[in-house]
Amino acid sequence: DWTAANIVEETVAAIREQVGDKQVLCALSGGVDSAVAAALVQRAIGDQLTCVFVDHGLLRAGEAEQVEDDFVAATGVDLVVKEVADQFLDALAGVSDPEQKRKIIGREFIRTFEAATRQVAADHEIEFLVQGTLYPDVVESGGGEGAANIKSHHNVGGLPDDLQFTLIEPLRALFKDEVRAVGAELGLPEAMVWRQPFPGPGLAIRIVGEVTRERLEILRAADAIARAEATAAGLDREIWQFPVVLLADVRSVGVQGDGRTYGHPVVLRPVSSEDAMTADWSRLPYEVLETISTRITNEVREINRVTLDITSKPPGTIEWE
Ligand code: XMP
Repeated sequence: DWTAANIVEETVAAIREQVGDKQVLCALSGGVDSAVAAALVQRAIGDQLTCVFVDHGLLRAGEAEQVEDDFVAATGVDLVVKEVADQFLDALAGVSDPEQKRKIIGREFIRTFEAATRQVAADHEIEFLVQGTLYPDVVESGGGEGAANIKSHHNVGGLPDDLQFTLIEPLRALFKDEVRAVGAELGLPEAMVWRQPFPGPGLAIRIVGEVTRERLEILRAADAIARAEATAAGLDREIWQFPVVLLADVRSVGVQGDGRTYGHPVVLRPVSSEDAMTADWSRLPYEVLETISTRITNEVREINRVTLDITSKPPGTIEWE
């Protein structure tokens, strides 16, 4: 019968069988799927696995540390970190168009992952690549081998021919809640196991306007407050996703102390959803919204206005870009 412990045991046996004594590579994104997939493979074959983490500087507060410190401590995984925030910011300079941002980030990610892969491959020949494909992804894309490739932003497409690997997809039979149960069973950090969906392009598509280091810092500070208060209010598991969006090209007048301010607005975008295809705006308690608003405007100097997005999807999307 279905217990997380049984799933771990069966999956570990299957991975051992598939991999033998070969070498395996896995890209970690900070998300729950890649983390649980990697942890399962690590449990099965130990140091035959090497993980790669591309730190593009577009994650939220504490998330890179979660991967580099907490995940490594919990699993003992062999991790190669590529610190490439400067490279990504240079590539994004002057760009405001959302799809352009996505393209640039995708391109830089592949470039960086490829370099990391060559670095690992210089030491030993890699045969397999781990992917955190879930059952709904398999169904959505019609099932069958390699079908998950249709969701291109969820995996590493675009690698050159000499870096094509056989896929290991240890989560192929699992739903999201089962993945979380397996993650907990494997002793992964709570914050990782319960992490809400977060887009690959990260905070770059939550800054309306050009992405700069300073704007990232502002958004990261506001986002950390919103997340902390939602967590403190016990709302994490009923909110599907809680984007905070910085309207970086908009300024509004405010007053603080005895001075006029001319800062930026942020938008709170908490939504409830089953699968992100449709969504409704979350009816958060007024007290929680109030605390978030007060804290953000008090603690993040550049922000002088907090607004709430009350648009469902459709017609709005979850993200602003
Ligand atoms: P939208 O904004 O289209 O988002 O309602 C639906 C879901 O997809 C996520 N999202 C992305 N995920 N790369 C990703 O990996 C992307 O470019 C991207 N754009 C949106 C979004 O966070 C939501 O969960």
